[in-house]
Amino acid sequence: MTRHLVTSALPYINGVKHLGNLVGSMLPADVYARHLRARGEQVLYICATDEHGTPAELAARAAGLDVEEYCRRQHALQADVGARFGLSWDHFGRSSSARNHTLTQQFARRLEAQGFLEERETKQVYSVADDRFLPDRYVVGTCPHCGYDAARGDQCENCTRLLDPTDLIEPRSAISGSTDLEVRSTRHLYLLQSKLSDEVRAWIDTKADWPVLVTSIAYKWLDEGVADRDVTRNLRWGVPVGRPGFEDQVFYVWFDAPIEYLGATWEWADAAPPGEARDWRSWWWEADDVRYTQFMGKDNVPFHTISFPSTILGTREPWKLVDTIKGTNYLTYYGGKFSTSRGVGVFMDDALEILPADQWRWYLMANSPESSDSAFTWELLAEAVNKDLADTLGNFVNRTLTFTQRRFGDALPEGGEPGELEAELAADVGRAVAAYTAEIEALHFRKAARELRGLWAVGNTYLERREPWRTIKTDPATTACTLRTAANLLRVTAVLSAAILPSTAERIAAALGLGPADLAWPGGDPAAELARLGPGHAFSVPEVLFRKIADEDLIAWRARFGGPAEAGA
Ligand code: 2FM
Ligand code: ZN
Repeated sequence: MTRHLVTSALPYINGVKHLGNLVGSMLPADVYARHLRARGEQVLYICATDEHGTPAELAARAAGLDVEEYCRRQHALQADVGARFGLSWDHFGRSSSARNHTLTQQFARRLEAQGFLEERETKQVYSVADDRFLPDRYVVGTCPHCGYDAARGDQCENCTRLLDPTDLIEPRSAISGSTDLEVRSTRHLYLLQSKLSDEVRAWIDTKADWPVLVTSIAYKWLDEGVADRDVTRNLRWGVPVGRPGFEDQVFYVWFDAPIEYLGATWEWADAAPPGEARDWRSWWWEADDVRYTQFMGKDNVPFHTISFPSTILGTREPWKLVDTIKGTNYLTYYGGKFSTSRGVGVFMDDALEILPADQWRWYLMANSPESSDSAFTWELLAEAVNKDLADTLGNFVNRTLTFTQRRFGDALPEGGEPGELEAELAADVGRAVAAYTAEIEALHFRKAARELRGLWAVGNTYLERREPWRTIKTDPATTACTLRTAANLLRVTAVLSAAILPSTAERIAAALGLGPADLAWPGGDPAAELARLGPGHAFSVPEVLFRKIADEDLIAWRARFGGPAEAGA
């Protein structure tokens, strides 16, 4: 039997993530993992914080904390907010873990032994006042392209051009502000990606089923020629290189971060409860029975299609390569950029202060930027919550159970037989289940959400055709059958909706008195699925599932988070 390994791009440690990060990686990975589990598959969903690199050091400095303490606190915050968003990680690790140190150094040694990693001399900016070499982001200055005076050594935030620290006009140290900078010779380790690029291309060529977004980015990089890449930096915080002459260097964050997918799996095994054996290596080493799916925003695609596969292939060891990559475009904030450093957009913790997680999960999946970038707007959020959740799903649940209770009490009523309309309903349900399953397994989340909404609408249409509120006066038996059927459809609805709306599905299941064993994935006979809960089955009426978003809410949220003008659209 196939085992499913699912990873989402590791969120940087520097602060709680915004909805743009969530929609591209952690949320779709979670929905997919939940879906597979609901279908009875064996799933391991791994994520972790990406803790190394200059952004972490600089953020810690800004917070006045030692970088280790900063990371410890931020990891706890991200783990907490992720859990509150319903992210069902099997393990949420840390790239600074001892396991990742071990694996990163082991990969580097092995790559060198195979001739894919070597020491090279290079030129780098040295700060005399700080008595150290300055990695890219530690050098700031004026952008030669647009004149922005606080451009970083790796990229200008204003015009987004990629830079080399030596390109900057009037460069200065980000640590001390000193302009006493020199270019000196130093040594770094290089990953010889150019020697592996034909192999990487041949591997990508076998992935005709991958999203075009992903393969087109990979081929663009391959076509432009993959350069060898320095994978060490003059920093203290990171995985030590551990070789003579490299005492002041650690591995580059993008070298150790993807290796943490393995590291976090090892951490997951370390965290096994007493009596449970977990074999982390079996998920990664000669793991032919594992199907591995990665989720990420499009900016991460080059690292996952070129650099990390080169790291793996270059070991000449049987480590698992990814089977499918789901890349996602950008969610914008009214057309502008979400930005952690500038605090633009909606962040996960703030989001949960104003609406429950399921409302966000639904909005984000139903509007996922899959085929192109898409804009977050408060108006679209209100539409998704009010029309889809409150008017369609919430309405179907509440009208079914409220009416049944009012007319028949706390158990499903007896009487009547399914007729033609029930046969049509079963056919519609069968189609919806098949279509939803196909879309979600193809990783088309927006289309899957549309199919799910279609199923909710089928429930309402059924009630409108049967009109139990009218037939109750003349034909109680038929009415009883209608309401039993609708209640059964609620069970199917809860099962199918659970991946995107886990807590709502739990509330529906609880109202129907159903435990996990009663929530099996619908089989091939939809008519039977619509007759599983028989007469006498006890139920209760849940509180209103979704509160509607009012105009006053929108006014308050725009004021709090900034509307179009503030987002620069
Ligand atoms: O872009 C980012 O948010 C990175 N922290 C993603 C890293 S993914 C993995 F390779 F670790
Ligand atoms: Zn610029």
